[in-house]
Amino acid sequence: MKLHQLVATEVEKAFASNGLQDCPIILQVAKNHDFGDYQINGVMPAAKKSQQNPRELAQKIALSLANNSIIASAEVAGPGFINLRLHSEMLAQHLQAALQDEHLGVNRTAEPKTAIIDYSSPNLAKEMHVGHLRSSIIGDSLNRILSFLGHQVIAQNHVGDWGTQFGMLVAYLYEQNQNGRADLELTDLERFYRDAKKRFDEDEKFADTAREYVVKLQGGDPSVLQLWQQFVTTSLQHAQSVYQLLGLKLSPADVTGESFYNDQLQPTVDELMAKGIAVDSDGAKVVFLDEFKNPDGEPAAFVIQKKDGGFLYASTDLACLRYRINTLHGNRLMYVVDARQSLHFNELFTIARQAGWLPDNVVAEHIAFGTMMGKDGKPFKTRSGDTIKLMDLLNEAIVRAKSLVASKNPDLSDEEISHIGHVVGIGAVKYADLSKNRTSDYIFDWDSMLSFEGNTAPYLQYAYTRVQSVFRKAGAWDQGADISITAPLEHQLALELLKFEDVLNNTADTSYPHYLANYLYQLATLFSRFYEACPILKADEQVRASRLQLTRLTGLTLKHGLDLLGIDTLDMM
Ligand code: ARG
Repeated sequence: MKLHQLVATEVEKAFASNGLQDCPIILQVAKNHDFGDYQINGVMPAAKKSQQNPRELAQKIALSLANNSIIASAEVAGPGFINLRLHSEMLAQHLQAALQDEHLGVNRTAEPKTAIIDYSSPNLAKEMHVGHLRSSIIGDSLNRILSFLGHQVIAQNHVGDWGTQFGMLVAYLYEQNQNGRADLELTDLERFYRDAKKRFDEDEKFADTAREYVVKLQGGDPSVLQLWQQFVTTSLQHAQSVYQLLGLKLSPADVTGESFYNDQLQPTVDELMAKGIAVDSDGAKVVFLDEFKNPDGEPAAFVIQKKDGGFLYASTDLACLRYRINTLHGNRLMYVVDARQSLHFNELFTIARQAGWLPDNVVAEHIAFGTMMGKDGKPFKTRSGDTIKLMDLLNEAIVRAKSLVASKNPDLSDEEISHIGHVVGIGAVKYADLSKNRTSDYIFDWDSMLSFEGNTAPYLQYAYTRVQSVFRKAGAWDQGADISITAPLEHQLALELLKFEDVLNNTADTSYPHYLANYLYQLATLFSRFYEACPILKADEQVRASRLQLTRLTGLTLKHGLDLLGIDTLDMM
């Protein structure tokens, strides 16, 4: 349900009946529950505008809100704030409805979009490393949330599978094939890349061959393409195994790599030339953007074709954007990419708008994220300064979580430890990331992410198991029982549960998964306060059943909510 809107509509009516149709009501969730559930902050500015005494105006509006089926009380505070408390019976009815709905009372959007989410998108020349984590999990969470809200989502894994380094790799693979060692060499992509690079740097002739292979590859030479394909397949298999371990929704069908746009690059450049948007500059094709000045105050240059005819990352993204609009019919293009590419996307979108390829009814967004830092405040690396393979990082998370689980609960079987360790370890890594404002850098710290206290996955997963344990102890009970809300913490918990849809919409609109994460954390802490303050199983029959209902919806909301972040739950841990 849209709780905020429901309350806002009542307040707007009260404003209107006092002649304040055009004044924003400024309705906010109350910071302190002792005073109310919501707070109206719009009276003071409205009073100023209509030249009235703010406190008197507030009294009048509060009076208009009396005898309301949604708002139980409206109290004027300070110079003209109004604190609202909602009717407990109204909350109870909506909770009941949410429990009867497998979608937990969350409405499908009235305006479904076709969202194209570009995420993960590693360069295939190397194994996935920690730098690919954020895009992969933020994108996957947005995919889940938008889908849940009823949008059509098309995931696009824009892998870097084209460009000069592939000439080098293919040339090296060819050489290895001659020696009959190709399959063997490809099992270690990192070493293969390093060896190829070494050959390239040390041997002029090899470097020339590599450059020839780039041309052959882009020209579609079948034998070169076949070698390239071997390389891409192996590399993608590796990526897919990382996705599996992470529990991502991404599948091989979502891969539309840079190579896919090869034959659309020239026409794209030609069209920009014909439109006069791109110009010839020393043989290269360039778009000069007055909107973006370089440090010398000159218009930024967006190169779309090199002097030698070669194309770039930028040219591919232009062709790709057109494909996403014209062929995939996307009207919300989302690029979950490192913040360091902000300028690239700003320029890309500007050019696409100028060219008329990106119409006004299509939104294009760079969903930027910051860098994962080590405890030393520098980008996260191994002790020796190497980049950390994502696979290694995830395996370490599982090992650490397993030993933690084993030490907390020595009676578990190996199999149980293994399963719980996996869910907790992967959950911890994901949650530590998703619970932070994505645009900031954050410090990757094993101890804090694996802690059972504070805003962490283990804390939330544990909170969920507590809910489950209530039901194990409860035995048979009436799942159709009425909810009646009397205790203040019941009221608070009810209110929080009914904010789920508001939070999801806010998360979907802004693409900030930490809004959802923080909500779940708040819900879990609130539940534990409720659990302490309001006995469940020992209460009288009706109260017991009502509290079990609240507990049930809390469990379902935690489970669904965590699932929307891509995090699994356990019945016991
Ligand atoms: N492969 C690129 C990188 O690793 C990210 C691609 C993002 N998507 C895009 N359409 N440019 O930096």
